[in-house]
Amino acid sequence: MIRVYPDMEALSRAAAELFADEARRAVAERGRFAVLLAGGETPRRCYEILAEAPLRDLIPWDAVHVFWGDERCVPADDPRSNAAMVHRALLDHAPVPEAQVHPITCAGAPREGAAKYEKLLRVFFGDGPPRFDLVFLGLGENGHTASLFPGTAVLEERQRWVAEVYVAEEGLHRVTLTAPVINQAALVSFLAPGEGKAEVLREVLEGNADPRILPARLISPADGKFIWLVDRAAARLLRH
Ligand code: 6PG
Repeated sequence: MIRVYPDMEALSRAAAELFADEARRAVAERGRFAVLLAGGETPRRCYEILAEAPLRDLIPWDAVHVFWGDERCVPADDPRSNAAMVHRALLDHAPVPEAQVHPITCAGAPREGAAKYEKLLRVFFGDGPPRFDLVFLGLGENGHTASLFPGTAVLEERQRWVAEVYVAEEGLHRVTLTAPVINQAALVSFLAPGEGKAEVLREVLEGNADPRILPARLISPADGKFIWLVDRAAARLLRH
């Protein structure tokens, strides 16, 4: 399903409302809400809206468990850290119990960081599949999502839930959840606003490129809902 909003603000508000609705539903049904958050610039406003009234007061924060889809292997206080961004925008202002906030830590040790995060997820989900209640993803202009970058070995990964990847353009390692894990989620939502995403959005949604070139095409929930939140500027090249 593709939902088109007039602008970034409307899209961010819709994403925040989706988070709040799914949180309330998951907590009512299963007693907890496991959410996988995206980094990058796009979701920042959505996180800020979640941290403000009225939504902040409608979310059962004590049952929220926060995970990240990917992280740059930089120190925790580095401005490029996805965990730091989510803290500043949301977690510093919302009462999620600290023990339920699970940043990926991989500075200086990407492979160990990935293994540690996978272990944490395997404990959290127990014998069941890693079924997040909600996954937010961003879309890079080169078709990457989370840290699933074009042409990298992690795209072939079928066993590991979490893997390290070297991003040559940045000269930096990252750690990312793999596509098979993301695809187990109950709901996956891409947030893709802005003129700059128009071409890649058309290629991902309406083209037939190999996912090794356009990794966002690896995302397709096996037994869950799939919602694209885009704005008019990003949607302007879509035929349908
Ligand atoms: C990260 C990501 C990445 C991001 C896209 C889009 O960079 O941390 O998780 O996949 O979502 O690169 O980034 P923007 O939202 O900044 O355009």
